[in-house]
Amino acid sequence: MKALILSGGKGTRLRPLTYTGAKQLVPVANKPILWYGIEGIVAAGITDIGIVISPETGEEVKNLTGNGDRFGASITYILQEEPAGLAHAVKIAQPFLGDSPFIMYLGDNLIQNDLTPFLHDFKTHHLDALILLRPVENPTAFGVAKVDESGRVLQLVEKPQVPPSNLALVGIYYFSPNVHEAIAQIQPSARGELEITDAIQNLIDRAQPVESRILDGWWLDTGKKDDLLSANQIILDSDVRTEIYGALDESSQAIGRVKIGRGTTVKNSSIRGPVVIGENCHLENCFIGPYSSIADNVRLIDVDLEHSVILQEAKIEGIHQRIVDSLIGRRAHLGAARPRPKALRFMVGDDCQIELA
Ligand code: TTP
Repeated sequence: MKALILSGGKGTRLRPLTYTGAKQLVPVANKPILWYGIEGIVAAGITDIGIVISPETGEEVKNLTGNGDRFGASITYILQEEPAGLAHAVKIAQPFLGDSPFIMYLGDNLIQNDLTPFLHDFKTHHLDALILLRPVENPTAFGVAKVDESGRVLQLVEKPQVPPSNLALVGIYYFSPNVHEAIAQIQPSARGELEITDAIQNLIDRAQPVESRILDGWWLDTGKKDDLLSANQIILDSDVRTEIYGALDESSQAIGRVKIGRGTTVKNSSIRGPVVIGENCHLENCFIGPYSSIADNVRLIDVDLEHSVILQEAKIEGIHQRIVDSLIGRRAHLGAARPRPKALRFMVGDDCQIELA
């Protein structure tokens, strides 16, 4: 059994961050999203992993993630020249996959469930595809499945106007090598992509065994800001333990579960966990509220923040209103010249979103 993680794509929904970086490397609780997927796959006993990368962000993914040693796995990188669809990614990965069955994992998805029980069902039922489903409120925004009582999949539709059910496809799939034949038979969709839903539908139409399982744990598609903040909240809630390697002065306090990295200095500030703060940060006169993740080399002075993710080397100074539900990109700089600014002065990149709430 192998695994194929998709870490290419356009990332339009997470612009502007994805103009300069891979969305799969955006950190959740200070760890790249992609790495949670790798760890879940290795925990299911699969160590031969291919990662599909794009020409724009592939080098960054490769440099940060490495050859797999840190995960106890072997990683092969597969370049997809264009984001031509999920089934296209499988097609170009065929030399790596050979005739092995495999898990396909979308690199920006996070799930709570262990992958092992599904893997067991996939193997023992001799399936060509096992898909995971989750009931959603707005099925028109997803790939949707119609299934019978036994979980057998009858029909799949991509973003249907009239959904046949409320069961959305989660970005994790188990395939036998027969999927390659199905992919060879499909054509690009109206949006010009080779769709994995069409390939699975092709298997169904040829009466090949395709089953589904319903996920009972949480599932987050972190390709969007609010899901990313939810993922951050969930992971901080479950994973953070108090570990303080940085230096807090005597007028600072850390309450609850707070992790502070080496080389970080905290002056006259209050931190209320769960919170993670990376290495070599400087915080002064701050309140850092629950569900905040602050990456390495961040500088925060006179800042009141909660439920937010701050990326590497960002600088925020003198913003006296509370910053909430925010995602601040690498090297971003937010500042106020005086406590009650008389004017707002911006230099904001394309596709940024600023809301004075
Ligand atoms: P999506 O999030 O569906 O697509 P996208 O990355 O283009 O993002 P957006 O919708 O915001 O424009 O992709 C799911 C995952 O699969 C994601 O990790 C990117 C990856 N992917 C590829 O590797 N190759 C592809 O051709 C496509 C479409 C996606």
